[in-house]
Amino acid sequence: MSRTRTQIVIVGAGPAGLLLGQLLHREGIDAVILERRSHEYVLGRIRAGVLEQGTVDVLDLAGVSARLHKEALVHEGVGIGFQGRRHRIALKQLVGKSVTVYGQTEITRDLMEARAANGAASVYEAEDVTLHDWQGTSPRVTYRKGGVTHEIACDFVAGCDGYHGVCRASVPADKCKVFEREYPFGWLGVLADVPPPWKELVYANSARGFALASLRSPTRVRCYVQCPLDDRVEDWSDTRFWDEFRRRIGEDVAAGVVSAPSIEKSIAPLRSFVVEPLRFGRLFLAGDAAHIVPPTGAKGLNLAVSDVFYLYEALRDHYRERREAPLDEYSPRCLRRIWKAERFSWWMTRQLHLFPGDAFARRMQETELEYLFESPAAQASMAENYVGLPFESAAAGAQAHVA
Ligand code: FAD
Ligand code: PHB
Repeated sequence: MSRTRTQIVIVGAGPAGLLLGQLLHREGIDAVILERRSHEYVLGRIRAGVLEQGTVDVLDLAGVSARLHKEALVHEGVGIGFQGRRHRIALKQLVGKSVTVYGQTEITRDLMEARAANGAASVYEAEDVTLHDWQGTSPRVTYRKGGVTHEIACDFVAGCDGYHGVCRASVPADKCKVFEREYPFGWLGVLADVPPPWKELVYANSARGFALASLRSPTRVRCYVQCPLDDRVEDWSDTRFWDEFRRRIGEDVAAGVVSAPSIEKSIAPLRSFVVEPLRFGRLFLAGDAAHIVPPTGAKGLNLAVSDVFYLYEALRDHYRERREAPLDEYSPRCLRRIWKAERFSWWMTRQLHLFPGDAFARRMQETELEYLFESPAAQASMAENYVGLPFESAAAGAQAHVA
């Protein structure tokens, strides 16, 4: 067995793990990242596309946003379609902020390149990652690679290993509380290389179910339709997908849709999930390891970034000031923001999807969307959440805790 030591072991090289590694590196704190998958596999996953301003600010702070500022698209509004009408929520006009369209894959690529340029340690295809003694003062993490077992001793473990990871699963059930809601449908997503015929994202509630027109660049679209949970990707030819998408998205957008061949097609279930707390001794959870939101509010990646920012600040202050307090504040500080994003994502999901057989829910949707279209106050509330609620400053968090 090989034995080494570092300050932080980060489990998972998704956006949360890579971003934490980068922020810590700039602060002079050593970290090793252990990732179960290959480098290529991680880069091949197609996920989020919409960034809040706060997320872009953290990427600036991490020094990984040069390409983003060249290539990303800034959107000042978003469309909501319902019963043949489309209403534009004028984000910038209503709350003074916009969103940024830049794929999670591109953020991951930028972070991986920065890490390689720093010469910081990452182990891809690390098998059987196992946490030891995280409840005591001397945690260790073991893994296998190329038939050899390795052990890393560390000060702290950051569990950035997503919903199916090993970190949350290492915590005994009686030490945490789980809050969960599953939805009776999934999202079928298609990526295609054609210029989008629409200028901004359009979320549509149609009688046939939800659809979303999104994009990655001026030459690449990303579109989704609500589908039954037991549908398989093979059930959906490209032609069937685009026909269904056209029927749901609204006439004007549909008129410009090209049935382009898909370059990626996948089905994702929808779930709301939160574990409390996010700290267990010397183990901290961040990102999808700690919470899942349904993608309707575009909050998952953005929440992963705010957790990571809070964790970075807590570790930074702990090492600078040799105090426990910043670490104690990590979980409550994250949870206050997480629950607000959970609420918004749940609200967007309820308003925009078809819940078969629930006539009361349908009337509530009709009423809610009518109210949204008519009321500037309701639009401002939606806009405030969609562009992202502000990050809490460390000092404000400490005060809230004391109060
Ligand atoms: P992940 O990206 O899941 O990364 C975890 C990493 O840990 C993975 O690389 C995994 O291989 C690794 N790992 C797992 N287990 C182990 C182990 N045992 N040992 C070592 N490594 C392990 N969010 C938004 O903000 N905006 C959007 O527009 C948006 N759209 C989305 C659309 C879809 C279809 C989906 C599915 C998600 C979307 N999200 C969106 C959510 C967003 O993609 C996730 O919230 C984000 O990936 C979370 O990042 P993470 O680093 O916490 O977790
Ligand atoms: C995406 O572009 O993949 C996307 C955009 C907005 C969402 C979800 C996904 O709410």
